[in-house]
Amino acid sequence: MQAIKLGKFLNFTAEIEVESPGRINLIGEHIDYNGGFVLPTAIDKVIHFKLKKRKDNLIHVESIGFENPLKTEINNLNKSAISWHNYLIGVLHYINLLCPNKIQGFDCIFKSNLPVGSGISSSAALECGFAKGVNELLKLNLSNQDIISLCQRAEHDFAGTKCGIMDQYAVINGLENHFLLLNCQKITHKLVPAQLLKHKIVLLNTNISHNLSTSEYNIRTKECQSALNCIQVKYPEYKFLCDVPLEIINEFKTNLPSNHYKRAVFTSEENQRTLKAVNFLKDGDVVQLGNLLYSSHKGLRDLYEVSCKELDFLVEFTRNISSIKGARMMGGGFGGCTLNIVKEDYITHFINDISEAYLKKFNIKLTPHIVKTNNGVKVL
Ligand code: GLA
Repeated sequence: MQAIKLGKFLNFTAEIEVESPGRINLIGEHIDYNGGFVLPTAIDKVIHFKLKKRKDNLIHVESIGFENPLKTEINNLNKSAISWHNYLIGVLHYINLLCPNKIQGFDCIFKSNLPVGSGISSSAALECGFAKGVNELLKLNLSNQDIISLCQRAEHDFAGTKCGIMDQYAVINGLENHFLLLNCQKITHKLVPAQLLKHKIVLLNTNISHNLSTSEYNIRTKECQSALNCIQVKYPEYKFLCDVPLEIINEFKTNLPSNHYKRAVFTSEENQRTLKAVNFLKDGDVVQLGNLLYSSHKGLRDLYEVSCKELDFLVEFTRNISSIKGARMMGGGFGGCTLNIVKEDYITHFINDISEAYLKKFNIKLTPHIVKTNNGVKVL
């Protein structure tokens, strides 16, 4: 089946329109499900949804860019063989549990400029934007907190990634010109101004999406849990891996399987890096901030083992270029984007050089995105 044409989107007369952004994470990777601090925000790449009620009970969702419309009913929410359907089916399933007998038929159409599988959370944007649209259209009175957690559950149970809370939280709560210092235990945030002093954030999409990403992601969450369980036998006071100080993790160096030990060390160090990054941002110290990004990448590569050769190449390329303050892989790993802090007047030069080198090395075209911070999901 063909993907639908733009004209159909433009001619759709909507009752509700929603814009749902992707997210970046400045630092604090693989920390959310370990109960630490992360530093994400929403970006100016979005999915645009249009919705209107129907007179019958059908739920019909079409997309520009994805083939095979979703046609279902609320009493028939089974998992689909088409992967993008499952995010929406999962959202409907959990909305229906929270608001029984309230979901009536509707049409929805969406178009996206968020690249899929690139680590900028097109999935959370899809879930949260759709949930917000259905909530507004059918006047369900779900809170943002309800939406964040039902979308996370949809991702766990229908898409199969046992993700943390960061993506859904940032997609809903992002704020222009700010990062969110998100406390993943309390699920609250403080705003941190995104002052990068004549630097911009450039994402470089490797255009690689290794199919390891979901399976390895879920393995990492289990490894961290096992490490914590082992530490808790002696130190039951620690409820999250991020709370365990490095000295205590080191006590378990020989007790823990070596990969579990490495995961725990990374988690503790990365959590500290996030807190340091906030101070450097507040002080306007972009150089020190950038150094933290390099340390984060090293940890993700060597201790957490979620990088890949394409990401490593892109990060290494930026070393020793004074106009680039820092670079690291972003998101779950095994492909997707690197995040780079680049001096404004060097961006064009940088993109040209690195694209050429990447093409030469891997015979793959790099896709650069100069991103701006943005507000979270908005009803237009
Ligand atoms: C994915 C998950 C998030 C988070 C990141 C890694 O984006 O959805 O919850 O764990 O990976 O930081």
